[in-house]
Amino acid sequence: SRRIVSAASSQTIQANRFFGSTTAMGRKVAVLGAAGGIGQPLSLLLKLSPNVTELACYDIVGTPGVAADLSHIPSIASVTGNIPSSGTWPPSHDTGLEAALTGADIVVIPAGVPRKPGMTRDDLFNTNAGIVKALVEGCAKFCPGAILAIISNPVNSTVPIAAEILKKHGVYDPKKLCGVTTLDVIRANTFVGASMGCDPNEINVPVIGGHAGTTILPLYSQVPGFSPSDEELEAITVRTQFGGDEVVQAKAGAGSATLSMAYAGYVFTDKVLQAMNGADDIVQCAYVESSITDAAFFSSPCKFGPDGVEEVLGYGDITPYEQAWFDKMMPDLKGQIQKGVDFANP
Ligand code: NAD
Ligand code: LMR
Repeated sequence: SRRIVSAASSQTIQANRFFGSTTAMGRKVAVLGAAGGIGQPLSLLLKLSPNVTELACYDIVGTPGVAADLSHIPSIASVTGNIPSSGTWPPSHDTGLEAALTGADIVVIPAGVPRKPGMTRDDLFNTNAGIVKALVEGCAKFCPGAILAIISNPVNSTVPIAAEILKKHGVYDPKKLCGVTTLDVIRANTFVGASMGCDPNEINVPVIGGHAGTTILPLYSQVPGFSPSDEELEAITVRTQFGGDEVVQAKAGAGSATLSMAYAGYVFTDKVLQAMNGADDIVQCAYVESSITDAAFFSSPCKFGPDGVEEVLGYGDITPYEQAWFDKMMPDLKGQIQKGVDFANP
């Protein structure tokens, strides 16, 4: 295996003294797909987090360079760059993956191919399902107690795949498996902020369901003070559902959202870390195993605690307009979940 360890260990020790109790927690985060469009800026943001003391960057290419580059940033996190040990695919025998995952508290997974114009997220299934399966097998083996945050699309199916793989290895804990839907939330907050002429960081729109087209359901009725016309509500709802397509089209074949997703992935991960470190007020939407609807996985506000998802919260009252979208979404969401389960159980 080739592994680059940051040359900043003495600097890290000094930083630990300086930051005191914050760093006493010693939190390791691994990013799988760390050399990609999301992976690089996500790793940069995590390197800057005071809640990360060790950052492991893994990808099939490029992570020694990413890690060497990040390691020159003066923050408390040490950085390693890990790639597969040659000739040892699948990753359960990969000492590079083993090094990245061993001791990880959180594993964030943006590995996989992105969309091009004209594609749905489901069109990525054939390629990304296998990538997620192999990487989660590595997680089951090398860091069975870690919280997994899945970004790779189609999230509606890759999270059920991950659950099935973890079950097969006897290490599935529903509290520790999340699909990251934070990008939908930050888009919704941005759109409401623009409409109301206020700071979008003061808005928190609950976005429920899944992460693909009409399975994304923003609950704008629950935003205090926001009372759009019927036309504006329809437009902002559809824009939230298809915000990903807006970026895919603008990038014209060069991929999908990376920078906004890196930010969203960082926000999600850092909140999970804050909850692990004892903060008792962390509630955020995540796509998790859930019994609040008849879909086995569903995104809704969740309370996070030291061990991950402490409680899957309900989504409150919804309007007839939102109920109509909800009814439309459920068959698609359940079908995409089943597709993931079937893939993992051929
Ligand atoms: P990208 O092609 O720029 O990067 C993907 C990276 O994954 C590459 O560096 C590639 O080498 C790596 N990779 C591929 N196979 C791997 C493996 N087996 N192990 C480790 N790394 C591997 O793509 P991107 O723009 O970063 O997007 C990545 C994924 O995230 C896509 O599936 C995309 O659809 C998804 N995405 C999800 C959301 C969300 O809201 N959940 C948002 C944006 C993008
Ligand atoms: C997004 O919402 O931007 C991502 O899921 C990427 C995509 O394919 O749209």
